[in-house]
Formats: sequence, structure tokens, C-alpha cells
Amino acid sequence: MNRSSLCFSLTGATIAENLKDIEKYHCYCDLYELRADCLESLSISALTSFPTKVKKPVILAVRRAVDGGHFKGSENERCGILRRSLASGYRYVDLDEDFQDQKTEQAALAGGVTIIRSFYDFSGVPAYLDRRLSNIKRNPGEVIKAAVMVQNTQELLKLVEQALELKAQDGWGNRIILGMGPMGFATRVLSTLLGSSITYSSAPGRQAAPGHVDPQTLVDLYRFPLIDEDTRIFGVIGNPVIHSESPGLHNRGFSLRAIDDAVYIPFQVDNLGAFFQLAEVLDIRGVSVTIPHKQGVIPFLSSRDKDVEAAGACNTIVWGDGLRRGYNTDIAGFMAPLKESMGGAIPAGFRAAVIGAGGAARAVVYALRKEGVEVLILNRTVARAKELAALFDCSYGSLREQERIADFSDLIVQTTSVGMNREDPEYDPIPGYSFKGSEIIYDIIYIPRLTPLLKRAAQSGCRVINGWEMLTAQAAIQFKLFTGQDLPGQAN
Ligand code: ATR
Repeated sequence: MNRSSLCFSLTGATIAENLKDIEKYHCYCDLYELRADCLESLSISALTSFPTKVKKPVILAVRRAVDGGHFKGSENERCGILRRSLASGYRYVDLDEDFQDQKTEQAALAGGVTIIRSFYDFSGVPAYLDRRLSNIKRNPGEVIKAAVMVQNTQELLKLVEQALELKAQDGWGNRIILGMGPMGFATRVLSTLLGSSITYSSAPGRQAAPGHVDPQTLVDLYRFPLIDEDTRIFGVIGNPVIHSESPGLHNRGFSLRAIDDAVYIPFQVDNLGAFFQLAEVLDIRGVSVTIPHKQGVIPFLSSRDKDVEAAGACNTIVWGDGLRRGYNTDIAGFMAPLKESMGGAIPAGFRAAVIGAGGAARAVVYALRKEGVEVLILNRTVARAKELAALFDCSYGSLREQERIADFSDLIVQTTSVGMNREDPEYDPIPGYSFKGSEIIYDIIYIPRLTPLLKRAAQSGCRVINGWEMLTAQAAIQFKLFTGQDLPGQAN
């Protein structure tokens, strides 16, 4: 079975910095790309001695600004650097498609250095990638490489289809096709499946190209060495989605359950129609759905469970038997930690205030009403609170009427984005409400684990539940739907 090699692009300003990065990541990668254009002083002696200092094959690249690199000298200087360094043990040299210096090419061929003939397109995915790639190949043994910026989901679909077509036509290898940017991320993880002989990674904070992750993340989190044509693909669709914690939860779950033939990938999606086509092309088996697509996916489903119908939102899709089945695990995921904190059941006469009236609030309100909880909805935009209240027979009001919470304060659920990624007290959506200490405060935000609201509530002696507990509870139900197995418990 052919597998993509994992290349670690070295973008340090000094050789010493690169060697330090290698020390940290060497066990995760198969080869290195020395990005000589990132070095602060391009001394030939440093370049010629480099391959002997490392134990893996090295690609030499001196990339120009037009190709996303940092080399500022003349083309003559660049050729000189390449020519004088090539014979010192480099396995590959990366030359751009319009590279013209015959002497350098001859030096590479004479020295047994394989040419990677590259083109970069930062404007998007070319319509005829196959033609473009075959046109750039000059010698039979060359590896041809396309690194193209994926601008949208339609382009990701196009890129994946073209890569698979090329693989079917020409077989494996001597070809690298990678989608740059967050929209192209899947191509970096699925490079083996797409027939690319190399995928690239780089050190955190010093990405060699948009969309790179570090080698450890590709291996440990995205299970890169396990992925092949038989891998079952799962993922999360959202926009943005790159910071989602779901890949960590599900991929760790696969590892802990010794499920070696599955991977879970973030797909940043801006066009659901294109994504559902991509799902067919890649034979995607299941996805989590997050903001802003929980409502938008519903028309694409073949069937939906009663929670999807009632909440008007779907957060899980499972493909099987030619069907796309939609579920909402947020409802049960929301309830699980709440019930657990109350010893298993919600007492009669329980009253709750829900802050916010968006999609997340709708699922929360439905879950609470299903349990017979009396609910007050407070929202910045009263009309939305009124609409939601009418659907589920609740009281409602403006977020300015925070004194009304006192009558519904067994539980306060915070569903707005206020406090997300924030630590400072001004990001408390109900500063006008003073805690008695007997309330349960549930904030569905999971970054940070302790939002300003939860911090204030905990200091007042309230029981607090955070979004991480909800996230893991709903993920556990998804994991069961995806794999039929229980998701092992994971640390906060
Ligand atoms: P979600 O699916 O996450 O619920 P949404 O449907 O866009 O996203 O809803 C966002 C919720 O957060 C709404 O209740 C919104 O209030 P409005 O309906 O008035 O827009 C609330 N929200 C967002 N930013 C807010 C802010 N700065 N202050 C108060 N509420 C805010």
C-alpha cells in the first residue's frame, strides 16, 4: 500500500533553530524541507552541511515571494545557491514551474537529486489541474506539485475530484496536490487517499504555508499514519471550524477504542450543496454540524429524528444505506450534565431563565420544556424572545429586565455568544442579576471553561455547569451513532 510521506518544512531563521525543531518533531515525520528562503543569512556552508546533520531525506527549497516564500535576491543568486548546495546530500530540490536555469537542473539530475516541479496558485483552484500538472513536467522522474489556495467548498470539491481522477488515471505517486488555507485542510490530512506522495507540516507559529499544522498534530490528532483508502471519514462542518474541539474528542475516542480505520476532520464549509457532493465523493460516513449550519442542513436530510423536528436544528448526520439521517444530540447532551448535577431527575415546579433566543436557545428551551420546566426567555431583541416563547409556551422579555430572573432562578442558562473567548467581567450578559447562591448556572460556552458569568456565579456559591460538559455529552451520543461504541471519558 502506498502512503503519503509526512514532510516537516523548516522555516526557522537559523539552522540552529531548525535543528531544535527537528529534535522536537523528528519522530513524527519522514523527511524535511529546508526552506532556505526563511534563513536570515543564506550562507552556502550552512546549506551544504545541513543534510549530513539530519538523519532523514531533505528537500531544498529557496522560494520566491511570488510563490509564498521570502527570497529577496536575484534569480542569478538563487540559481547559484541551489547549484552550489545540491551535490551535498539533498534528496530533492523544489523548483517552480517557470524555473529556467538549465545548469541547476543538470546539476540536480547529475547528482541524483529528484526535482519537485511546483506551481502555487494563491487565487484559487485551476479549472484544469490535470492539464496544468502534465504541462509542467519536464523530465520523467520528476515529482509534480500543485499547492493551490482553496477559496470555498466548491473549490475543495473540484480539487478533490481532480486529485482522485488523476490517481485513477495515472496511479499512485510522483504527484503532490494540496489545498492551502482552512478550506483546504482536509487535503493535507487525506493526502494518501488523494494520491499525493507528500503532505507538508511546519512548526506552530511559523507556518510554511496557509493551513499547515505541526507534524505531531497530524500524527497524534489526525491519525495521519493510519489513513488510507479504507479509512472511514467523519468530521465537523461549520464556518469557522478550525478551533473546534470536536476533532480532539472523536479522534481520541477512535484511538482509545482502537478504531484504526476512522478519522475525524474539520471541514470549513460555506456552501452546503457543495459539501454534500463532497461527502459522496469522499464517502463521508458521519458529521457533526455546528454554527452556522444547524438549520441549513435540514433540507439535505433523508430523515430526521424528533429532536431535529422540534428544535429546528440538526447537529449530527450519519450516512448509510444511501440515506442521510439527521439527529440532534445537543438536546440530550444539554440535559445529561444538568440531570447529573441534580441527582438524576428534574423536580416538579422547576423554573429556568434562558438568556438568548437564537438557535442554541431554541434547543435548550425545547429540552427544558420537554422535562416540564417553566421557562422565561430574555433576549436583547425582544421579538426573537417572543417568537421562541410562542413556540414552546414560555414567558419572555428583554435582556434589560434582568430583575425578572429572580422568579425563574432555579436554573439560569446562558446561550448567547457573550463571554466566548473572554475572561474580563464586562462580558457577563446579566450583570444586573445578583446571585443568591442557590441557583444552578449553566453556560453553554466552552472556551473559556469558566466564563465571566460562571466565575461570578461560582464565587457566589452557585453550582456551575460549563459548555465542555455539554460538548462531551453530545459528542458521546454522536460517537455512538458514528461507531456503535461508547466514547471513553476524556479529561477537561
Ligand atoms: P446561536 O445558534 O449560537 O444561538 P444565533 O442564532 O445567531 O446563534 O443567536 C445568537 C444569540 O446571542 C441571540 O440571542 C443574540 O441576541 P439577538 O437575538 O438580540 O441578536 C445573542 N447575542 C449575540 N451577541 C449579543 C450581545 N452582544 N449581547 C446580547 N446578546 C447577544
